[in-house]
Order: sequence, then structure tokens, then C-alpha cells
Amino acid sequence: MTLRVGVIGTGAMGSAHVATLRTGIDGATVVAVSDTDLGRAKEVADDQARVTDPDALISASDVDAVLIAAPDEAHEPLVLACLDAGKPVLCEKPLAATVYGCRRIVEREVALGRRLVQVGYMRRFDPAYAELKQTLVDGGAGAPLMLHCAHRNAVAMPWFTPEMPILNSAVHEFDVIRWLLADDITRVSVFTPRSSSLAAAGLRDPRLLVVETAGGVLADIEIFVNAQYGYDVRCELVGETSTARLAATPPVADFRDRFADAYRRQVQAWVTAVTTGGVCGASAWDGYAAGVTAQACLEAAEQRRSVAVTLPPRPALYESPTEEPCVTTPSGAPI
Ligand code: NAI
Repeated sequence: MTLRVGVIGTGAMGSAHVATLRTGIDGATVVAVSDTDLGRAKEVADDQARVTDPDALISASDVDAVLIAAPDEAHEPLVLACLDAGKPVLCEKPLAATVYGCRRIVEREVALGRRLVQVGYMRRFDPAYAELKQTLVDGGAGAPLMLHCAHRNAVAMPWFTPEMPILNSAVHEFDVIRWLLADDITRVSVFTPRSSSLAAAGLRDPRLLVVETAGGVLADIEIFVNAQYGYDVRCELVGETSTARLAATPPVADFRDRFADAYRRQVQAWVTAVTTGGVCGASAWDGYAAGVTAQACLEAAEQRRSVAVTLPPRPALYESPTEEPCVTTPSGAPI
């Protein structure tokens, strides 16, 4: 079976996903694309992929599944429309622009009683993170005690509001920490040094976040979105018997180059899961957990105190583990 995919949002990420779906993915084809900027949609359309509006794309009978790469604030209505149409959806991170939006998506999916949402936290599919996770699982560093993480961009996106380093960048770290440790974040603190003179007015950059997990692990996270020298993501695990760190990769100018393989593996795993009736990657619940943590960080920064991260009980729908990515393509070849 070939999965017929519709892609909404054909900017930087969406056009890259379309290119990946066309060249690097087994078992999928792009049949429709949509963007509020018609010119952008036309640039990625071809003989197989027509241009249409988002609502028509989601309801089209020849679209089996939807990939959303529109801006954050468009995610919630689009994901809800996919759920209402009963269509599997891979939504770029964050799941929604607000924690309330994330919650509404979880509630709609729970009411539906079927897992249809995967969130684009692609680090779970990155070979270097997978290796670090394997080291942890194998006990190669002993029981985990601390993580030292850094997320650096050369220059912030022009549309970054003061909240974006936390709502849009740090969410990657929250998700990967929960995934690596198989543990929930329970408390956060935010420390703000003097801002870089190269950051846009109003943006407090860099920032240091400290998160605690239910299992007692502490993680410090540097978020620096105007680091100038390049895109650079780091993670070091300190365990009881040793340390393990993310394999070093040279800083790159374009973040898409650092995680190109992870994006491809993520999309392939999604296609495999949808085709075979399974689920994988970050769930709507994981997206919600990242959103709750981000909201707590905003409060912690504002009030200059640590803030508890409180999640309601996890609905039964999300109890089955989805930590491990699918490892085959629809035709059975390894990803
Ligand atoms: P972009 O601005 O390059 O592209 C967004 C596109 O969506 C634009 O072409 C815009 O015209 C279109 N658009 C706006 N509103 C729309 C709507 N309601 N319906 C359909 N199209 C709409 O932005 P970019 O960088 O591609 O980001 C898209 C999403 O991907 C964001 O949610 C962002 O947070 C996420 N992202 C994820 C990354 C990752 O590492 N997983 C990295 C960068 C972005």
C-alpha cells in the first residue's frame, strides 16, 4: 500500500518534508499541498501533488494522512480537523501554540478513543540520541543522575517573540529528556544572565533552565538562540559509574542539516506506523507534557522561583509505550 499524504504548510520545514517524502521515503506519495501563501504551495506542487486549501486537503478522500508544517498557532485547528476527519497526522512541534491548545487536542483524541497524532519531536529518531539512549538502557553509565544539555541557534528566527526560546526551542529538550530518561519532569527553574547584545530587543537570550524529574534526575539546559557561530545541540549524561555524551557533530549553519537523517527516519517511521496500524514517536500526550513544562518555565522566569510541573493522570490511551521508533519500512527494509 502506498500512503497518500497531504502536506499543510510548505515553508522551510514543509518543503523539506515534501522533498523527503518524494525521495527518501518508502511507501508514501504526496498527493496534495496547501499553504496560505499560494505561491509557496505552487513551488512544491507537481504532477502528483495538487494545490488545495487546508480544509479540502484534510477532507479529501484521496488523502490518507496529513503532515502539518504550518506555524505553531495554526497547529491546533488543523490537528483537531484531522481528528474530526479520522485522519492520522504528523504535526510539527510544538503540538499547539498554547498549553490549553495541547490539552484540547489530547481531550479530542481521548474522546475519539484512537491514537492518530504523532508530534514532530524528531530527536527521538536521531542516531546520536538513539545511541545515547541505548547506552543508558544498557547501563553503560550506571543509573542516571544529571544531564547537561545545550540548544544553540546561530540567529533567532525573525518571528521569535520573547517566549519563543522556551515555547518553540526548549520544548525539544523537554521531550528528549522525558524520552531519554523515561521519566516525567516535575519542577523547573529558569535563570537569566545579562542578554547578548546581539539578541533582538526584548528577547532574553541566553537562558539557563534547570529541570527535575520524578526520578530525581537534574538536567540543566542552555537555550541560546543567537549564538552566532552555528546550530549546535549537546547532551551529556552523568551516571553513577560513568558519563556518556551525544556524539559530537560540527556546528552547522542550517538546523535542517544537523537533523536531516532524524527528519527522514521520523517521517519513515510515521509512514510505517500509519500503514501498519501502529503508533510511534511522540504522542499528543508527550506534546502536551512538553507544553505544560514550557508554560511552567515561563512562569518560573516571570516569578523568579521554581515552579512545579503538574500533569493530570495519563489517560489509558497513552499507556502503551511509544518510546521506540518503528524500525522497518512498509516493504520490510530497515529505515
Ligand atoms: P515557515 O514560516 O518557513 O513556513 C510556514 C508556512 O506555513 C509558510 O509558508 C506559511 O505561509 C504557511 N502558513 C501559515 N499559516 C498557515 C495556515 N493556517 N495553513 C497553511 N499554511 C500556513 O516556518 P517553518 O520554519 O517551516 O516552521 C513550520 C513549523 O515547523 C513550526 O511549527 C515550527 O515550530 C516547526 N519547526 C520544527 C522544527 C523541528 O526541528 N522539528 C524546526 C523548525 C520549525
